[in-house]
Amino acid sequence: AAMGGFDLSLTGTTLVVLLLVPGILGWGKEGHYATCKIAEGYLTEEALAAVRSLLPDRAEGDLASVCSWPDEIKHNYHWRWSSPLHYIDTPDFRCNYKYCRDCHDSSGQKDRCVTGAIYNYTMQLMSGHSDLDSKMKYNLTEALMFLSHFVGDVHQPLHVSFTGDEGGNTIIVRWYRRKTNLHHVWDNMIIESAMKSFYNSDLATMIQAIQNNITDTDGWLTDVSSWANCTSDGTACAEPYASESINLACKFAYRNATAGSTLGDDYFLSRLPVVEKRLAQGGVRLAAILNSIFSSRTLLSLFSPCLVLFLGLAFIPVPGVQAWSKEGHIMTCRIAQKLLEPEAAHAVQMLLPDYVDGDLSALCVWPDQIRHWYRYRWTSSLHFIDTPDQACTFDYQRDCHDPHGGKDMCVAGAIQNFTSQLSHYREGTSDRRYNMTEALLFLSHFMGDIHQPMHVGFTSDEGGNTINLRWFRHKSNLHHVWDREIILTAAADYYEKDMDQLQQDIEGNFTNGLWYDDVASWKDCDNIFNCVNKFAAESIRLACKWGYEGVEPGETLSDSYFNSRMPVVMKRIAQGGVRLSMILNRVFGHPHEDSVAAT
Ligand SMILES: *[C@@H]1O[C@H](CO)[C@@H](O)[C@H](O)[C@H]1NC(C)=O
Ligand SMILES: *[C@@H]1O[C@H](CO)[C@@H](O)[C@H](O)[C@H]1NC(C)=O
Ligand SMILES: *[C@@H]1O[C@H](CO)[C@@H](O)[C@H](O)[C@H]1NC(C)=O
Ligand SMILES: *[C@@H]1O[C@H](CO)[C@@H](O)[C@H](O)[C@H]1NC(C)=O
Ligand SMILES: *[C@@H]1O[C@H](CO)[C@@H](O)[C@H](O)[C@H]1NC(C)=O
Repeated sequence: AAMGGFDLSLTGTTLVVLLLVPGILGWGKEGHYATCKIAEGYLTEEALAAVRSLLPDRAEGDLASVCSWPDEIKHNYHWRWSSPLHYIDTPDFRCNYKYCRDCHDSSGQKDRCVTGAIYNYTMQLMSGHSDLDSKMKYNLTEALMFLSHFVGDVHQPLHVSFTGDEGGNTIIVRWYRRKTNLHHVWDNMIIESAMKSFYNSDLATMIQAIQNNITDTDGWLTDVSSWANCTSDGTACAEPYASESINLACKFAYRNATAGSTLGDDYFLSRLPVVEKRLAQGGVRLAAILNSIFSSRTLLSLFSPCLVLFLGLAFIPVPGVQAWSKEGHIMTCRIAQKLLEPEAAHAVQMLLPDYVDGDLSALCVWPDQIRHWYRYRWTSSLHFIDTPDQACTFDYQRDCHDPHGGKDMCVAGAIQNFTSQLSHYREGTSDRRYNMTEALLFLSHFMGDIHQPMHVGFTSDEGGNTINLRWFRHKSNLHHVWDREIILTAAADYYEKDMDQLQQDIEGNFTNGLWYDDVASWKDCDNIFNCVNKFAAESIRLACKWGYEGVEPGETLSDSYFNSRMPVVMKRIAQGGVRLSMILNRVFGHPHEDSVAAT
């Protein structure tokens, strides 16, 4: 009784934790239950006996009842190390998975991902089964529960998916009327809606339907034998399972589900079959793995998926200097995309992943989202330039480096680099497309950044980041005022927060308004190196004249600062957009007009 009471209260706490931390779960409780329940039906007698002997008492002989255990404990202090073992972050847009490249946690420690964990716990159970010693070394009860859970997770498409959006966790969508995120849709919502709509709100009925399909010739029967066929040498082969997941993520999960979209019947009904098949595959394959682990006949070999030395390079995190806000980047990219000539428009279309429907601005903030991720930390210093305090000038040789002196590692160097990468677009093979996509997104983002005056600011105040002050009533800092506050205040005061209206006004100013006569000179650029120097020099001059001028730490900035600076911000957004289109039109345009070649 004491034991039971303990377990209940543990579950209670866990539930609260799970509700407070949305979207870091594996398949939801239902998904894991279903996978394990299906697996139980395919266990050999031998395996079933071994599984039962390892299950904790509270499972009462039912593997499915403890398959969510790793989700329940992973936020407890004691178990936090297990969190990264639930998923794999793959490079954005590449839509493939490679163990050696992708299986590590966010600090770069290798094997710490869901496939690594599947090998780990398979290995523990295998050696535990054949060798008394390791029974002492490993807790095989835990190993069994982890393995069963992770085989489920590796089948959830958004558990093997993009780094930048955290497997869909940061993509906020509506599921019918409810606000949620894309990851959660795949963990829970599809299964829950299916239960309600088709299975009488009864999980057992849903599982039965999936099981029927496994043995039905009109269902998956002809496929089923191939699902688990790669355990031939007795080892779990999680590799193809992870590859399938990222494929499905690209084909079905991300497709037509960009941030802000509402997902309803179309999405639900077309994705449900995918989810049901993944639950079935997870179950059949878990059974196959357990059967071979616990078989007295198979001689099990250990599989080492990664023979290549993983370079766990230590990067020193650069403190958070931010970029133009989301809004600034989005407007810059929208302005640019509208000004593209047909050839460049086509190239951009080809480079963007399908699921953004050709909208460059949907991904212009991407370099900010990924810059703190391990794989992309090298990009952190590419967002800005630190110039000497009070100099109010930019000198490429003197200023364009990262904090460790790495040459060209600043926003001006990055624009040159990515422009030159894109200028090889026409020679590109399909294999290079991914790098080109990244180059396009980086270039589009950094063209915004280099036009934000405080991104070419003084070194000691980190471009105004350490100058704390108030913006009207709330706390802010000078950098942030230029990134975001001025734009948001303008949108609220003059445009009823309608960013499209604000953008139209900006565009009106250069198509036939205030800046009309200047636009040709904005686009003056015979050589990309000279141009980036010009953009950066303009920014630091504006930073001195308008950004820093008269600002004391701790003071309150309000109407007079806002009114005089707003036109500067709007013009810089316009210039960023116009010039981004100029560069893209040249790199993707006719070869003989390609005068923007890198130096
Ligand atoms: C392997 O299992 C052990 C015991 O649970 C755990 O401490 C270790 O972190 C695991 N490593 C991986 C990569 O799963
Ligand atoms: C093995 O793990 C289970 C679940 O965490 C735990 O209840 C049990 O006490 C552990 N066994 C040993 C011998 O540590
Ligand atoms: C059964 O299989 C068919 C054919 O693959 C599929 O269309 C259907 O959605 C499946 N039903 C269930 C309950 O999984
Ligand atoms: C295993 O499955 C793969 C594809 O799923 C197939 O190409 C291969 O021939 C199968 N092998 C066996 C032995 O069935
Ligand atoms: C995405 O949406 C478009 C337009 O609504 C539709 O034609 C297409 O079939 C959808 N694709 C998927 C995979 O849902």
